[in-house]
Amino acid sequence: MRVCIVYFSQTGNTQKIAQAIQKQMAKAAEDCTLLRLEEADPAVFSNYDLVGFGLPAFYFREPINVTHFFNDLPDQDPAGRPKPFFFFVTHGGTPGDVYSRIDRLAASRGLETLGFFQCLGVDTYPPFADRKPLTAYGHPDQIDLLQAQTFAIDIIHRAGAYLDRGELKKPQIPGNWIARTVAGFFSEQKIRMRMRQHLLPAKNILPEKCTQCGLCVENCPQGIISLNPYPVIDESSCIACYHCHRICPAGAIDCDWRVFKLMAGEYLRPRSKETSPDQIHYI
Ligand SMILES: Cc1cc2nc3c(=O)[nH]c(=O)nc-3n(C[C@H](O)[C@H](O)[C@H](O)COP(=O)(O)O)c2cc1C
Repeated sequence: MRVCIVYFSQTGNTQKIAQAIQKQMAKAAEDCTLLRLEEADPAVFSNYDLVGFGLPAFYFREPINVTHFFNDLPDQDPAGRPKPFFFFVTHGGTPGDVYSRIDRLAASRGLETLGFFQCLGVDTYPPFADRKPLTAYGHPDQIDLLQAQTFAIDIIHRAGAYLDRGELKKPQIPGNWIARTVAGFFSEQKIRMRMRQHLLPAKNILPEKCTQCGLCVENCPQGIISLNPYPVIDESSCIACYHCHRICPAGAIDCDWRVFKLMAGEYLRPRSKETSPDQIHYI
């Protein structure tokens, strides 16, 4: 069996799970290829028997670059039987509607979800970055990684049964209908765009601080930042990950999070004097 896993990860949580799954699957499969989303051509899945996708939850759903990957995926079901598929998600504790959305996106491209894995991943989303401890601090931990490996073995068995004998046990997608409806509401394109306009801050480039190091250009998942001579962002394709703002070593991409923090009740959170050890890892 040939397996391909594509994943999107900015702070390494999903990458750790992807690597644990790949390591385990490589022992049982003929080949298990692991690709970052940025280097994966949507056509790549066509060459494999079993395919998987790893992602973080963003705004109660999948990041928009992930939606685009699935939308661009050629139909994986030309012969009439959907290709076996699995996915995994890391999140800060409120994944919202992400599971059923990925299941639906996959089904629309001729992929059959055999199972999915989810676990917490430390949340360094900028407005929450001064929480002590950070949300989901310490995750994914050793137990998460072991569970991911167990999941990998299970998926290999399920894929074998599906490919050889057509056996399929549909997984239960978690969440109750209220959570799904609320999350679905926030996933609506128009509402999301309004949220972007009114709730999420603009990115202000501060030329006096910018050293033109190019880190934001290299690490933008959409490839929409150029230096001219300071960063210029094509906001029309921005996925609002704020990774450029988060990683700028000079603090030259400035965002005012006060409105967002107010709406999120951030100022009502009890403040701890403890400090978290440095735990932010950028990939
Ligand atoms: C822009 C953004 C939005 C996020 N939205 C959510 C969310 O709605 N729910 C949640 O549980 N976690 C959310 N998170 C936290 C991430 O899902 C979590 O930290 C994930 O493990 C990050 O994965 P990575 O390290 O592979 O990039 C968000 C993080 C970012 C950067």
